[in-house]
Amino acid sequence: MESPSSLAVRVMTLFPEMFPGSLGTSLAGKALKDGKWSLETVDIRSFARDKHRSVDDTPFGGGAGMVMRPDVVNDAIDATWPRTGPLIYLTPRGKVLDQAMVRRFAAEPALTVLCGRYEGVDQRVLDAWPVEEVSIGDFVLSGGEVAATVLLDAVIRLLPGVMGNAESGNDESFERGLLEYPLYTRPAEWQGRTVPEVLLSGHHAKVAQWRLAQAEEITRQRRPDLWSGYAAVKKNDLKKG
Ligand code: ADE
Repeated sequence: MESPSSLAVRVMTLFPEMFPGSLGTSLAGKALKDGKWSLETVDIRSFARDKHRSVDDTPFGGGAGMVMRPDVVNDAIDATWPRTGPLIYLTPRGKVLDQAMVRRFAAEPALTVLCGRYEGVDQRVLDAWPVEEVSIGDFVLSGGEVAATVLLDAVIRLLPGVMGNAESGNDESFERGLLEYPLYTRPAEWQGRTVPEVLLSGHHAKVAQWRLAQAEEITRQRRPDLWSGYAAVKKNDLKKG
């Protein structure tokens, strides 16, 4: 049974067999079974018009590769997008996905995701619909399906009731604009390596202070881009008192 807050996911793809894929296992798979989200895949090829069922053609102006036809993709969108929630097109040209976008998508009632193949989709169909172009990073995949899986995995784990420990969503990497502090578990000594003393102290405030300092240092060293944003916010907070 779907719960009232369930997220309705629709994926348009030339490879429907790629879904749910990894989203059918582990945390996302259990959430799917529990009705926390639902999945409908739409085979773009089923909207092909000719007897060869062609979905792509050569680019006007020449060049390598093939382009997905606007008429075929348009019919797929028209039949699939519920006119509520974002219509997301995965492309390396899109805005790069971050945790703030993931949170925004997790608050939607529905997500409709268009996966491109070949060189991409005819521009006119992207102009004809309120398409939000999203990239998962500065590299090129062979299609949008794996990128869609990444996006959906990040969204689904934030849905209400999906993560076991409700707090684990707020304290982790990126939620505060910082990378995660180092983690340790038993045994307290392993191959001669010990655990930072403060973590064994049972002193919660000191543990929190140590973790924040570690998160700050790791972020400063590894991600100057994140660090400058965090440092600016921190300075502002200090001013406000
Ligand atoms: N399709 C191909 N590469 C991609 C990327 N990096 N992000 C999103 N969609 C893609």
